[in-house]
Amino acid sequence: MRTLAGQVIIITGASSGIGEATARRLVRGGARVGLSARRADRLEALARELDPAGTKVLAVAGDITNAADREKLVAATRGKFGRIDGLVNNAGYGTRGPVEMVPVELIRKNFETNLFSLIALTQLVLPHLRERGNGCIVNIGSVAGKIARPLSSIYDSTKHALEAITDGLRGELKPFGVRVTLIRPGFILTEFVDAADAASTGIIENAGPYAPYLGGFRVSYDKLRRIAGTPDDIARLVERALTADNPAPRYSGPFHAKVFLFLKWLLPDRALEFMVRLRK
Ligand SMILES: NC(=O)c1ccc[n+]([C@@H]2O[C@H](COP(=O)([O-])OP(=O)(O)OC[C@H]3O[C@@H](n4cnc5c(N)ncnc54)[C@H](OP(=O)(O)O)[C@@H]3O)[C@@H](O)[C@H]2O)c1
Repeated sequence: MRTLAGQVIIITGASSGIGEATARRLVRGGARVGLSARRADRLEALARELDPAGTKVLAVAGDITNAADREKLVAATRGKFGRIDGLVNNAGYGTRGPVEMVPVELIRKNFETNLFSLIALTQLVLPHLRERGNGCIVNIGSVAGKIARPLSSIYDSTKHALEAITDGLRGELKPFGVRVTLIRPGFILTEFVDAADAASTGIIENAGPYAPYLGGFRVSYDKLRRIAGTPDDIARLVERALTADNPAPRYSGPFHAKVFLFLKWLLPDRALEFMVRLRK
């Protein structure tokens, strides 16, 4: 078991939801954190609240898809704290809509944020971890990285790909003492749904023959709300991964996430497809 005290951790997507809760929890545990997201006001307010003296929290506003912003985040965190011990790759969002109707540039944008930029940032951080023979990468995946659903499969495919990258990285970095793990949240009450609505503007309105099914999609989201977890449910798993000597390859939570993943393992494909089918 390791302690968080003194560790230097970069957290992306820290301006709300899971990233913000993770920042709160890690700072409470004694970690020093470099926080990133585009909304500078939110990030700076969080940094001031968590660390009025400005010695433990560094806010580096930027867009994860921008190479210069990624470099600034890593350089500024190293510059302030002298090293990096971990990276929590959390920034992400979902694009919704029938595959037929989603413009390819919006699909690319979703992959750019959730996958390619995550890989690029990991590439920047890894040399520091590898050379010191120590460190931890925590990728925030999703139950959607195992179970793809109609009208959500653009986002779901970004998280499926993240599963593969995480597994590959884990094997590549094991000889160098760098730990890599994936967290699969279920449905968590954050700004995720609002961000997905914003990212899907224009697609949903022009869904043509798929339009009658969109209501059913909403209803299933509303049902999920009743069993939703809190951002801190996931922050707790991040803390567990960062403090483990030998973290599990994957963590999932809250309880409903474990149930869905168990059903994915248990049921034949057709039964699972029936469960997530389009409904009017
Ligand atoms: N909520 C869920 O039910 C759920 C379930 C499974 C997995 N997840 C995953 O959990 C992670 C966090 O999501 P959340 O639920 O906490 O949603 P959220 O409240 O919307 O947080 C998303 C975070 O990502 C940041 N972000 C998005 N695009 C960015 C960009 N281009 N550059 C920099 N930062 C960016 C946002 O900050 P700015 O807008 O300020 O840039 C925000 O801080 C995501 O990877 C998501 O896929 C969520």
